[in-house]
Amino acid sequence: MSATSPVRAVLPPDIRARKGQSPLVMLTAYTTPGARLVDPHCDIALVGDSVGMVLHGMASTLGVTMEMMILHGRAVVRGLSRAMAVIDMPFGSYEESPEQAFRNAARLMAETGAPAVKLEGGAHMAETIGFLTRRGVPVMAHIGLTPQSVNTLGGYRVVGRDGDAEGVMLDAVAVEEAGAFSVVLEKVPMGLSGRITQRLTIPTIGIGAGVHCDGQVLVQDDMLGLFTDFRPKFVKRYADLGALADQAIADYAAEVRARVFPSEEHSFPDVLKGKKP
Ligand code: KIV
Repeated sequence: MSATSPVRAVLPPDIRARKGQSPLVMLTAYTTPGARLVDPHCDIALVGDSVGMVLHGMASTLGVTMEMMILHGRAVVRGLSRAMAVIDMPFGSYEESPEQAFRNAARLMAETGAPAVKLEGGAHMAETIGFLTRRGVPVMAHIGLTPQSVNTLGGYRVVGRDGDAEGVMLDAVAVEEAGAFSVVLEKVPMGLSGRITQRLTIPTIGIGAGVHCDGQVLVQDDMLGLFTDFRPKFVKRYADLGALADQAIADYAAEVRARVFPSEEHSFPDVLKGKKP
């Protein structure tokens, strides 16, 4: 691409076409500055419902609303020029019927400008995924550990070990056949996610699913060290921005108390010296 040609945004068919090519890179973003950080480096900015826990202090993702996803989705889309935004459908916005899912997915897309949604669930959501994709809603599926089902799963556990591997494989095949353009595998053992990746013709994007996936996703605040309430084994911390921010705020507070800040440098003089008014 030349320096003057317009930047072409990534779209769902581009992601689908990346199967077997170079690894896909996805990171969460919830704000315009967060999206601007993601845009030059990643293929996809995921407006995850993890926003409820990371930015709003919720104990799980279950309390996240459509209004929250729209607000954060809009902010993220404003910060992107190349990477594709994918918006999570929040708990309760799609499980009741394909019609309910379409209504809410269309609203998320229309009110944010994002070209795709993500929803949790495998074989039991296949009918809904098919209904959406046939009506112009590109769907990224999410199987394995599905955090919105934490209460039925009995915790944030690895899924696909101890006899339930075949169920995860069946979920993967079902979402592909239903028309999903890619699928997130969360907390799935690496051998199983490798077999799923080999079997599917759509890209798998792993989080805690090992190296064999077609792409990877992490929560931005986890990998930057900004969200430290808990630290799953699959999170690699690439920076410790939380510690840097803590030190910076401590320095600011100390300087204000010692009347060191603001200095003359950060204050406005009463008379401008040596300059024309
Ligand atoms: O909500 C989220 O951030 C997610 C990722 C962890 C895949 O769904």
